[in-house]
Amino acid sequence: NIDAVVFDLDGVITDTAHYHFLAWRQLAEELGIVIDEVFNERLKGVSRMDSLELILQEGNQQHNFSLAQKEEMAAKKNLHYCEFLKELTPDDVLPGILNLIADIKSEGISIGLASVSKNANTVLEALELQKVFDFCADAAKISKSKPDPEIFLTACNGLGALPQRSIGIEDAAAGIEAIKASEMFAVGVGSSLHKADYQVENTDQLCWDKIKEAHKNWISI
Ligand code: BG6
Ligand code: MG
Repeated sequence: NIDAVVFDLDGVITDTAHYHFLAWRQLAEELGIVIDEVFNERLKGVSRMDSLELILQEGNQQHNFSLAQKEEMAAKKNLHYCEFLKELTPDDVLPGILNLIADIKSEGISIGLASVSKNANTVLEALELQKVFDFCADAAKISKSKPDPEIFLTACNGLGALPQRSIGIEDAAAGIEAIKASEMFAVGVGSSLHKADYQVENTDQLCWDKIKEAHKNWISI
């Protein structure tokens, strides 16, 4: 009774969430804005331009720049980020993820990707995972980033899966909200994802049998 499992990428499959943070912090510093990991929680799952807006608001500078200038800043952040991506290898897949994927696939359940990152393909290639996913939602065709359900609904649709019979896995609060808005079962990886239907502290605790068990209980509620 499970059609598909849809994964977030940054912070779930690999720790690129941290690279995004380092790249944003570098740009913020150049603007005289201080951001820390607590603030960064608000950027997770949020598109590049929306993230920039949140940072500028944090420094009260949101009205100081034209759209062209903002696009230039976002491009600069992306250059910082892409420098980090050069270091990425298959060893950077987070613990437990490959086992989880193998267990899901062994039951003939399809696997999808729902990342709003325009670098998702580059990351998957560096991890040598591009052939593992049955369908990856294209961030370039998504108009609303998480917490909007658009990307999860697009992934389910591409997999021919019913959202109500599918599971989403996320490390971001905005991502959990997007999964819930899609009427999917939400698995949270992290410590403060209160809206998740099932939560683990880190990826090596992601066990397919336990997820299925929690999902079964959720259905029967
Ligand atoms: C999400 C990340 O996956 O992608 C965000 O959680 C990031 O932090 C967003 O801003 C957009 O990524 P990119 O690579 O298109 O700038
Ligand atoms: Mg994430």
